[in-house]
Amino acid sequence: MPKDTLSITDNRTGQSYEVPVADGTIKAMDLRQVRVSEDDFGLMTYDPAFMNTAACRSAITYIDGDRGILRYRGYPIEELADRASFLEVAYLLSEGELPTQAQLDKWTSDIRYHTYVHTNIIRFLEGFRYDAHPMGMLLGVVGALSTFYPDAKEMHDPANRYIQRVRLMAKIPTLAAFVFRQTRGLPYQFPRNDLDYIGNYVNMTFSIGGQHKPNPVLQRALEILLILHADHEQNCSTSAVRAVGSSGVDPFSAISAGIAALYGPLHGGANEAVLRMLDEIGDKSSIPAFIEKVKSGEGRLMGFGHRVYKSYDPRAKLIKRVADQVFAETGLNPKLEIAVELERIALSDEYFIKRKLYPNVDFYSGLIYQAMGYPTEYFTVLFALGRMPGWLAQWEEMLQDKEQKIARPRQIYTGEDQREFVEIGKRK
Ligand SMILES: CC(C)(COP(=O)(O)OP(=O)(O)OC[C@H]1O[C@@H](n2cnc3c(N)ncnc32)[C@H](O)[C@@H]1OP(=O)(O)O)[C@@H](O)C(=O)NCCC(=O)NCCS
Repeated sequence: MPKDTLSITDNRTGQSYEVPVADGTIKAMDLRQVRVSEDDFGLMTYDPAFMNTAACRSAITYIDGDRGILRYRGYPIEELADRASFLEVAYLLSEGELPTQAQLDKWTSDIRYHTYVHTNIIRFLEGFRYDAHPMGMLLGVVGALSTFYPDAKEMHDPANRYIQRVRLMAKIPTLAAFVFRQTRGLPYQFPRNDLDYIGNYVNMTFSIGGQHKPNPVLQRALEILLILHADHEQNCSTSAVRAVGSSGVDPFSAISAGIAALYGPLHGGANEAVLRMLDEIGDKSSIPAFIEKVKSGEGRLMGFGHRVYKSYDPRAKLIKRVADQVFAETGLNPKLEIAVELERIALSDEYFIKRKLYPNVDFYSGLIYQAMGYPTEYFTVLFALGRMPGWLAQWEEMLQDKEQKIARPRQIYTGEDQREFVEIGKRK
């Protein structure tokens, strides 16, 4: 009769143990009983980079990397990208269900009410050096917001947490737009509450002399990109938000840790690398030589491959469609032609097929952002804007999870044993 347990024999002692298996996992703490002596600490698992460790239970995002499936709260990403607004998706992620009209109206108006930031934030921004990176500025000002909302520390009150989630959703477009204006030396544009979430952000970003003619195709394209980036379960920045948030710090500080993680080139920066690669290739005729270089191990095809997706990244498929719509508006970019041809060749090449390397979310997103008028070093700020609802939902879920405690991994100590202090004159 099969049992949902795992039998372990410790060959050091000959002892056997039986530990429960649930949800395809064993509890690491169940191994602690495996000891060689009374004073032994007990067996631990060693898992650098958490390659095979579930650190939480989560009901937010489901990914099946082999089959190219991504769902938020059970809804396929394709349907949300086609039919939902970004604020609906944000509500879904945070609150668990798609909002009714009345709930959406309240959520939208709560967010609209909180779009302004304290004017002192502008002084912080003005204090950055002329060439400050947009992500460095964003993580600084989001962290600084914690000092403006000391009430955010009352995290055990769900109503209070709701207000903080609303504040972060409401203020991130304002801050992202201010950062954009700062990099360009343009005067800040304040939020306009007659505009919708995306329209307001785009207006604050691009308005000149108080004027901006909205382009509905580009705005919807941006909205879809934000939806596609809204959550991706326990990635590096989300894990950072959860770990930092588990200390009980306020959400502004925890989210700024997420922004810091996203800033890293291995996480949020790959779409920049795609553009640099397309620049390097320069012309369609150079593609075969470039592919040969990649195949011989000289560099990688940026925007291809994924740690989790071993088939076409479902977000990349949707982004390709968005790219077509955007380029129909803005005119064809020669880099897009190179990208399309690169993809065509790579997808029919044995090297990429064998290794299950498909375009990922970053392959076309950079091209789209560039066509919309965003500078390359700003792309990750757009990623942060999109990821905000995911970070907030995961932070909320972590706080409600009775099994969670302050995040505190173990280590295998590899340093010296105890030794005697050596006076400075006697050191070699
Ligand atoms: C995303 C990424 C880091 C995932 O890496 P991973 O799951 O650890 O995969 P590995 O590095 O183990 O690669 C497996 C094999 O595919 C090859 N490979 C992986 N990505 C490749 C790429 N983009 N171009 C060429 N070859 C690639 C590796 O060289 C390796 O080949 P080998 O088995 O002959 O040694 C990797 O695919 C990559 O570097 N992609 C380019 C950067 C990028 O687009 N990042 C954005 C991710 S959203």
